[in-house]
Amino acid sequence: MNLDCERLFRDALDGEHGFPRSLLDELSQRFNEIQDEIRLRRLEGEYGFLDLGLQEATIAGLTTFADTAGQAFDHVLVLGIGGSALGTKALVNALRPRAWNELDDEAREYFPRITVLENIDPVSVSAALRRIDPRRVLVNVVSKSGGTAETLAQYLVVRHWLETAVGPEAAPKHLVFTTDPVEGALRRIADDEGIPAFEIPPGVGGRFSVLSPVGLLPAALVGIDVVALLRGARRALEAAAHEGLRDNPAALYAGLHWAADTRLGARTHVLMPYSDGLRELAEWFRQLWAESLGKRVNRHGEIIHAGPTPLGAIGATDQHSQVQLFMEGPHDKVITFVRVEDHGEDVLIPARSGQPEALEYLGGKTLAGLLGAEQDATEKALAQVGRLSVRITLPRVDAEEIGELLMFFQLATGYAGAWYGVNPFDQPGVELGKRLTFAAMGRPGYSG
Ligand code: PA5
Repeated sequence: MNLDCERLFRDALDGEHGFPRSLLDELSQRFNEIQDEIRLRRLEGEYGFLDLGLQEATIAGLTTFADTAGQAFDHVLVLGIGGSALGTKALVNALRPRAWNELDDEAREYFPRITVLENIDPVSVSAALRRIDPRRVLVNVVSKSGGTAETLAQYLVVRHWLETAVGPEAAPKHLVFTTDPVEGALRRIADDEGIPAFEIPPGVGGRFSVLSPVGLLPAALVGIDVVALLRGARRALEAAAHEGLRDNPAALYAGLHWAADTRLGARTHVLMPYSDGLRELAEWFRQLWAESLGKRVNRHGEIIHAGPTPLGAIGATDQHSQVQLFMEGPHDKVITFVRVEDHGEDVLIPARSGQPEALEYLGGKTLAGLLGAEQDATEKALAQVGRLSVRITLPRVDAEEIGELLMFFQLATGYAGAWYGVNPFDQPGVELGKRLTFAAMGRPGYSG
């Protein structure tokens, strides 16, 4: 992947908006401090995702499981929420043929279909359970804490559904957990009932866990090349080993977005891939950026109410939806375009004689050519009116590129936490809602 940040600078925009070039020197000087902070936090057990590039034993274990037990099923049902679900959806969307579940066995090369039951909407849950054959399903319950109400409720519903269909003795054979190595209800159930359970390494939180067994197990089950994913992740980690800010793309991306927010009031950070296969990746990024950086207090306990608002958009579709706002609304956004060079497939737009003149220019071109031209034109149009943007170019959408992109965004988020001075790994803001839910549902100890 390649990162181009040119269109954040005043002299590449309208001469009025954007950064002066001197900002880079200023950020570079502060970068040593940021690096020291991250090194220190890492020693304290944070930034565990930095160790996910090399996981030989884990990969061996989960690919063996996927190639043996896993292939006895023709549907994988993933139960989880937030960081325990969004990464898997991003992987499947990017790296499996579109409309995977609608393909027949041969087109899926006999890999199973997959459903990620992210929410507890009773209509969606009922519909999924009506559609899936319980005799042919492997259920992967994913929860780092093992105590998330939504996931445990899904588990109880699905377990009952399984037991009703296959009987209480066979039901555990349809289950595999991904959870903490020691703590939590899922670990206890796994130990008590001999249910296979993969470990989420300590220090790796939900939204940073896509490249742990959280995302890798379902990925391996549906035939995604998990070794290539980690090879790509290592590329991003190697690029982040550079001490100079200009040579460290993730740190640069984070520093410039922090500065755009805090200096230029560009508080909305949009991720806009020009590929339907990256639609779910934009959703994954939204959670990563929002939950990691939206914080009331900084590391010193001072109240700051900081954090950018992330937004997802899809090119070219959202050119007919949100781009009007990006062009002419408030100057409060940075747009990250993700451009794909080779889509792996293209469609010729046929030339037709006897058509109105307005159609003629399209004939003989291709859809990929049109998509690329639209991305380029949108980026240039935004720059002309002083709108900030960044461009990430992916040569293609394959496991290695996606592994690199996912790790790049995780690194950027880790760096952004340091630029903002907040802890990117906690989420205290969602705890109160959880406690009130427990109280409302009558969980002992929460009645007050
Ligand atoms: O990113 C996070 O930490 C959260 O979004 C969690 O993934 C989410 O709350 C689910 O938590 P758990 O995996 O413990 O069930």
